[in-house]
Amino acid sequence: MALSDQIETLRFQFIEELKETRSSKDLESLKVKYLGKKGPVANLMVELKTCDAGERPQLGKLINQLKEELESHCDNSLARIKSQEFEAQFAREWLDASLPGRRQNLGRTHPVTQMLQRILDILIGMGFSVQLGPDVDTDYYNFEGLNFAADHPARDMQDTFYLSPDLLLRTHTSNVQVHVMEKMAPPIRIVAPGRCFRNENISARSHVFFHQVEGVYIDQGVTFADLMATMEEFIGKLLGEKVETRFRPSYFPFVEPGLEVDVRCTRCRGQGCRICKHTGWLEILGAGMVHPNVLKNANIDPEIYTGYAWGMGIERLAINFYDIPDIRMFTENDLRFLEQFS
Ligand code: DAH
Repeated sequence: MALSDQIETLRFQFIEELKETRSSKDLESLKVKYLGKKGPVANLMVELKTCDAGERPQLGKLINQLKEELESHCDNSLARIKSQEFEAQFAREWLDASLPGRRQNLGRTHPVTQMLQRILDILIGMGFSVQLGPDVDTDYYNFEGLNFAADHPARDMQDTFYLSPDLLLRTHTSNVQVHVMEKMAPPIRIVAPGRCFRNENISARSHVFFHQVEGVYIDQGVTFADLMATMEEFIGKLLGEKVETRFRPSYFPFVEPGLEVDVRCTRCRGQGCRICKHTGWLEILGAGMVHPNVLKNANIDPEIYTGYAWGMGIERLAINFYDIPDIRMFTENDLRFLEQFS
């Protein structure tokens, strides 16, 4: 084919292909295909050398015209396609920055956690620091180190979940007392929140799983008066300055003397109601002077040091405080219940 015909054919082919080209990417390839170093336009230049010397200037001009024409087609189309592509992308990705956001529903703290935080806030403010102990512990830390006689009924399989003859789920946070006395030297002034487990029948008032906070203070010259004053102060801060308290003698192997502390029923103010079982009083904690045997077990000399300890159940407190009819509600995760504690 004559070179001039080839030029025309190429122009025609290019225009046909250009019509089919929709994206800037395809257009770039089309440009490379026709105008690249090994493309047909470059080939024409090579072929030009084989033509008659007389025709060459004229044909060379035609080829150059073709080249410029194809280039300007490409550039114009590219600008048009790019702006179309941008419009499309803009339409696709458009967002209304003035739309109001979607409301995120925040969770809230569990009522037991709320109660625990209140208690810890007060005790930390009174100079106690927080110590944690293991939920799974040995018989020694849960019982023996706390002066439980080998045949004490609390060791009975009825009350304790044993994992092996020596390993158990702690039945109270008092185990932390033993750990702390082993690793710290007096003065010791700590509180220990945590989970406890007891193998009991689940009912409205008792559960196999609950929480306690334990407290211990050991130093030289700590007296029963210190214990009473600290409990008064703590309870006043927790339930309100004016709440009346009552200290009753009681028995726990790890304290001597031991006592239980009651407060005037916060619901009926002592008149007698369902919550206080018509006694006018609510039992809120157990306490006492740390038994000399417990100190000795931890190599603390009871002739030099004395101390007091106390422990209380968080669910029990929350039940009284919020007037909750059934302890099982804490673990059922019913939002209608939980949402009431904001
Ligand atoms: N550990 C006891 C219980 O679970 C509570 C208790 C009573 C803790 C007297 C004490 C204490 O530290 O001195 O019922």
